[in-house]
Amino acid sequence: MTEAAIFLPLAEAYDRWARVYDLQDNPMVFGASRIVERLAKTVRGQAVVELGCGTGRHLVLLKQNGADPLVGCDLSAGMLAQARARDLSLVLFQQDMAQPLPLADFSADLVLFSLVLEHMADMTGPLREAGRLLRPGGRIVVIEIHPFLSLSNVAAHFRDGGTIVEMPTFAHPFSDHLNAAAAAGLRIAQAREWHPRDFDGPVPDKLFKRGPDCPLLVEFELRPMTSDRQP
Ligand SMILES: C[S@@+](CC[C@H](N)C(=O)[O-])C[C@H]1O[C@@H](n2cnc3c(N)ncnc32)[C@H](O)[C@@H]1O
Repeated sequence: MTEAAIFLPLAEAYDRWARVYDLQDNPMVFGASRIVERLAKTVRGQAVVELGCGTGRHLVLLKQNGADPLVGCDLSAGMLAQARARDLSLVLFQQDMAQPLPLADFSADLVLFSLVLEHMADMTGPLREAGRLLRPGGRIVVIEIHPFLSLSNVAAHFRDGGTIVEMPTFAHPFSDHLNAAAAAGLRIAQAREWHPRDFDGPVPDKLFKRGPDCPLLVEFELRPMTSDRQP
C-alpha cells in the first residue's frame, strides 16, 4: 500500500519532525553525525556558529570537544526547543538565515551548515553572512546531500506515523555550490564526497540502499578568497 504524503511549510515540517528527528534511522542524519565527529577533533578553543542547528546535536558534540562559545540559529521553534533541552549553555536564536544575522563580524572560527542549504533557493546570502562572521584563519564547513542524489529527487522528508511529510527543498548541482561560494567571496579549500563504504561500525540499514559506492553526502571547507579582512 502506498503511504500518504503531505507537503508542509518548512518551519511547520521541522516543528513536527523535532520530537523524533534524533531517533530516526535516517542515513543523511547519520552520515552528517559521523562527519561532524571527525570535525570535532579540530575545534578545541574555537568559537562555533551553526546555521540551521536543529536539535543542537552537533553543537553539543563540538562543545564536548572543547569548542566555546557555541551559537545556533534555526527557523523552527520546535527544533530549537530540543536544542535548549539538550544544553542550556548553547546560545540559540530563531531566525531565517536568509536574513542578516544579529552576530558580530569576526565572531567565529567555524561556521557550520549541516543538511540545511538544500532548503535555500539561493545559497549566496547565508554563505556571505557566514564569511562576514569569520575571524582570520576561520573556515566554513558545509555538509549536504550529494548532488547526484538531490538531482535524483532525494530530499529532506520524514515519516510521521503512516504519513510521509515533505517540505520545500532545492536540488543544487555542483555548479550552484561553486557559484554561490564565489559570489560570497569564498574559495573551496577542500571538498570530499562521502560514500556508504566510508562509514564503519554500526550503520543504519538504509545507508546501503543504493550500494556502497553511490555518493551520499558532500562536504566543503570554504575560506575567504582574500586575507585582507582584519578585525
Ligand atoms: C535537516 S535539519 C539539520 C539540522 C542539523 N544541522 C543537523 O545536521 O542535524 C535542517 C534544519 O535547518 C533549519 N532550517 C531550514 N531552513 C532554514 C532557514 N532558512 N533558516 C534557519 N534555519 C533553517 C530547519 O528548521 C532544521 O532544523
